[in-house]
Parts: sequence; C-alpha cells; structure tokens
Amino acid sequence: MESNRCVVATGAMCRIGPDGGILKSDPDRATDLYVGMMTGTSLDGVDAVLADLAGPQPRLIGHAHLALAEDLRKELLLLCASGWDELHRSAIASQHLARSYASAVQQLLLDADVEPEQVRAIGVHGQTVRHRPDAGYTVQLNAPATLAELSGIDVVADFRSRDLAAGGQGAPLLPAFHAGLFTTHSPRAVVNIGGISNVTGLPAAGSGEPVIGFDCGPGNVLIDAWAAEHLGDRFDRDGHWAAGGHSDAAWLQALLAEPYFSAPPPKSTGRELFNRQWLSHKLAQRELAPRDVQATLTRLTAASIGQAIAQHVAPAVDVLVCGGGAFNATLMRMLGEECAPRPVASTATLGVAPDHVEAFAFAWLAREHVHGRAVSLPAVTGARGPRVLGALYPAG
Ligand SMILES: Nc1ncnc2c1ncn2[C@@H]1O[C@H](COP(=O)(O)OP(=O)(O)O)[C@@H](O)[C@H]1O
Ligand SMILES: [Mg+2]
Repeated sequence: MESNRCVVATGAMCRIGPDGGILKSDPDRATDLYVGMMTGTSLDGVDAVLADLAGPQPRLIGHAHLALAEDLRKELLLLCASGWDELHRSAIASQHLARSYASAVQQLLLDADVEPEQVRAIGVHGQTVRHRPDAGYTVQLNAPATLAELSGIDVVADFRSRDLAAGGQGAPLLPAFHAGLFTTHSPRAVVNIGGISNVTGLPAAGSGEPVIGFDCGPGNVLIDAWAAEHLGDRFDRDGHWAAGGHSDAAWLQALLAEPYFSAPPPKSTGRELFNRQWLSHKLAQRELAPRDVQATLTRLTAASIGQAIAQHVAPAVDVLVCGGGAFNATLMRMLGEECAPRPVASTATLGVAPDHVEAFAFAWLAREHVHGRAVSLPAVTGARGPRVLGALYPAG
C-alpha cells in the first residue's frame, strides 16, 4: 500500500497511512521510536529517554529526568523492607509511580515534538523493592496498564521475571545492551554505578568470547545514605565531602570481607544486603569521623569494582563508567587508582551521557520484546537459556 512521507520536528522520517494516522508497525518506515525508563535503587527519580532504533546504531533523541515526589520516594524506600499492610501500600505506590512515568513521557515527547502515535512502545523497568533470586522472585513496583492508558502507548514491563523463571538471577540486564553500544577492538569493562554497581566484561569485537556481567556490590547506596544523614542532601555532590576525608584502611578491609564481594558470579544484589543496617553493623565500635566514613564508603565502591574487574574481567584494556556515580569526581578518581593501569572514563567521552545509558537499555529491551527476540544472556544471569524478556500491555 502506498503511503506518504513526512518529516517530524526531530528531523526523523515517518510514514502516514491512508487515514492520516502514522503507521506504528510499518516495517519500512525510517524511524523506530521507543521510550525507555528507569527508576533505580538510588530512588533519585525517573530517567526517561526517547530513542530511534531504526538504524544499525541506536540514536538518542531526548532525555527527561523527573524527581520523585518526596512522599512517594519515602514510601518506596519503606516498601523495600517488610511493613504493615504492604500489599495495599505497594499497589497504591505503583499507581503513583505510573503517573510519574506518564508525566515523564509527556515531557519527553513534548520536548522532542513527537506524538504518542509515533512511538512503538515504552520499556519501563519499575521500582525494585525486593530482589530475592535465592527465593525465585524479584519485585518491581509498577502499574504498566495505567501507564499504557495514560500515555496511549504500548508498554513493555516486568523484564526480570522470565529470566528468574529459567533459573537465572534476573540481573543484570544491561550487559547485552552494553555489548551492542560499547564493544570495540579490545576487551573492555563497562561499569554502571547506580545505587548498586554492576560490571560488564566485553570481549574484543569478533573474538567469539562471551559477554560477562554481574552486580559488584554497593554503588551509591551507602554513600547516599551517609550523606543524607550528615549533609542533609540526597548525595555527596561531586564527591566533595568525601574528598576532604581520609579512607580508613583497616575499616575498608573489614568492609571488603563481606562474603558477597568474593562470591563467584552469577550474582546480583540490592538493598536487601547493602543498606543502613549493614552499615551500622559494620560501624559498631569504630571511632571514625563522619567525613572519614564517607571517604571510606566511596573507596569501598571503587575498590570492590576494581577487585571485580581484576578478578573476572582481567583482559579489559579500559574501563567505561555510566550511571550517576560517574558524576562523583572523588569516586571517579578513586576508581582510576583502583583500576590502574587501565584508563577509566565516563561514557560521555563516547557521546553517551552516563545518566542516559540505563534508560536507553530499556528502550532497546522493549524493542527486542516487540520483535520476540530472546536477549537475556545465560552466561551473565545463570539462566538455563536465553528468554524473551518482558510482558506487553497494549495501549488500545
Ligand atoms: N553530581 C553528582 N555528584 C555525586 N553523585 C551524583 C551526582 N549526580 C548523581 N549522583 C549519584 O548518582 C545517583 C543516581 O544514579 P543512578 O544511575 O540514577 O542510580 P539508580 O539507577 O540506582 O537510580 C545519585 O543517587 C547519586 O548518588
Ligand atoms: Mg536513578
């Protein structure tokens, strides 16, 4: 069937059907737009990207960050542990979250001058409140049906449970996307430093070696908790506070003795282990100045990543960093020391802002779901085989 062509304000091409509507599933059209959304362990807010996945290289068209309302943020944090009437409270928080997602999508599309009908699907991770692969489940609060209704766009959600059902950890899911975006002629490590940090080991292009990946341990989660208590700020901005402290070598060794760090992959973790109680327990009977605690926690994130790379991604020639931790200058300096002689750089040096990468991955994961492709990596998650990730909630 013949169709007209138009140029949308983003400069991208799209096709218009006989009734004037844009053909969402037209395989010939020149753009293939997806929204990806992430709300991670840090609970800092919603990251949303608009991506064009039509070409061989995925292209970022827009980004929106929406801070979570303070009462929702507090409730989500409370829901990370057992509590009174948590089924009801989770359902209500999920609805609020979906409304925040819908606002982020609206803002994103407005900024890019793109209509909902032009977007093939939204990939949305949801908010993890429990991650228990040992018990066969993981819980991401979300209300994808509400988001589909509010946005008028198909939604793909619940990306982790299919891998868990196949015996995997359901995490991390980023390595396959990192492989597509960052593989180069030499082996490389990619580190995502969100609330939790995870490492991807990329073999050299064409080597035929498998991509590996696992959660390293705490990324920003402990750094943020300590900063919130002592600075009254959500995080240690640019790592400024930690920069003036001294890392305590003996305490650092005690922290690194946590068995999670030396456990072999596949492994994944969350607030279940690395939380304020863990920190209190480790701090007991230590006389440390708050600023030195902050410096040591920052060093812990860097050292655990450095050790993980040395142990499991040894051939890596360089280290690329994404996630909000890339903005913490003290953490980046320490990471440079812990990974030496490998150079450490933000993904921004390759033109991808570090805070866009994870949401970008969920746009790609949504596309892979729509096409029915099994993209989970059993070598990473430990599952019995690759599976099609996610579940679709149609808009119409
Ligand atoms: N300017 C900054 N200085 C220091 N840390 C920052 C800065 N910007 C972001 N961060 C850190 O990044 C975190 C958010 O990272 P993000 O990748 O969104 O994690 P998550 O996926 O867990 O939400 C914040 O909680 C904070 O610790
Ligand atoms: Mg975040």
